[in-house]
Parts: sequence; structure tokens; C-alpha cells
Amino acid sequence: ATNRTFTMIKPDAVEDGHIGAILEKITASGFRIVALKLTQMTVADAQEFYAVHSERPFYGELVEFMSRGPIVAAILEKENAVEDFRTLIGATNPADAAEGTIRKMYAKSVGENAVHGSDSDENAAIEGAFHFSGREMF
Ligand code: CMP
Repeated sequence: ATNRTFTMIKPDAVEDGHIGAILEKITASGFRIVALKLTQMTVADAQEFYAVHSERPFYGELVEFMSRGPIVAAILEKENAVEDFRTLIGATNPADAAEGTIRKMYAKSVGENAVHGSDSDENAAIEGAFHFSGREMF
């Protein structure tokens, strides 16, 4: 079925000037952009967004990284969006990511890994609603 996923182009990829290339790859792969903005998470935003990881040893580093500069937030629509987008971005650690995936091309490390992709339809809806109001979703 057609469904939606949520993505962020993370601060590392924005700093390195990869917004255009990454959005081009996403749309060329058949995803339709239904919400899009440049924004920055506060430390409190990042703590809340990643609350599920609060007990992990990398939580502090993750919160600091994700709030250090602007991100591009987007909601994407496609047949099988959540799973196909995770295939397109590749493994969390770019060292393990398949050739041609966004993380293989643009990520620096397991922490600074260029893009986010929701891991379920339920989380896609929660994460999309975290960043966008109803009138910003099309
Ligand atoms: P993502 O899967 O989008 O959401 C959780 C994030 O935590 C992940 O991307 C990485 O940015 C970060 N992360 C996961 N594992 C590690 C790790 N071992 N060290 C640092 N950051 C990590």
C-alpha cells in the first residue's frame, strides 16, 4: 500500500552542502515529498525526539550532534515507503552500507550518518507530527 515515512537530512550533510543531491536521489527513487522544511532542533527537541535512545551510551553525543545546526525535515510518500526508504539510505553505519546508498555516499560515521529514516509506519506518523503541523503536510 502507499504510505509515508519521515526523514531528516542531518546537520553533517547540511553542513557539507548535500541537501540538493540527497533530495534529488530521494525523488529520483520514486518518493513524493509531501512536507519539507529547513529547521533546527533545540537540545530539548533532540532529547525528546530520541528519548527511546536515552539509556544508550551515545545519547548525549547524538543529542549534541542533532541540535548543532540546521536539518532538512521531510515526509515522503510511496508504495512501501518505510521499508524502501531504509533500503535507499543503507545501514546505520556507513562502513556497512551497500554501494549506492545515501549513507554510503554521504555519511561520515555511525553517529554522523547523513540521514534519518523512520523504522515503522507508527514511528513515521509520530516523527512527522513532531516536526510538521497539519497545514504543512500535503
Ligand atoms: P538513526 O538510526 O537515524 O537514529 C538513531 C541514531 O543514533 C543513529 O541514526 C545514529 O545517528 C546514532 N547512533 C546509532 N548508533 C550509534 C553509535 N554506536 N554511536 C554514535 N551514534 C550512534
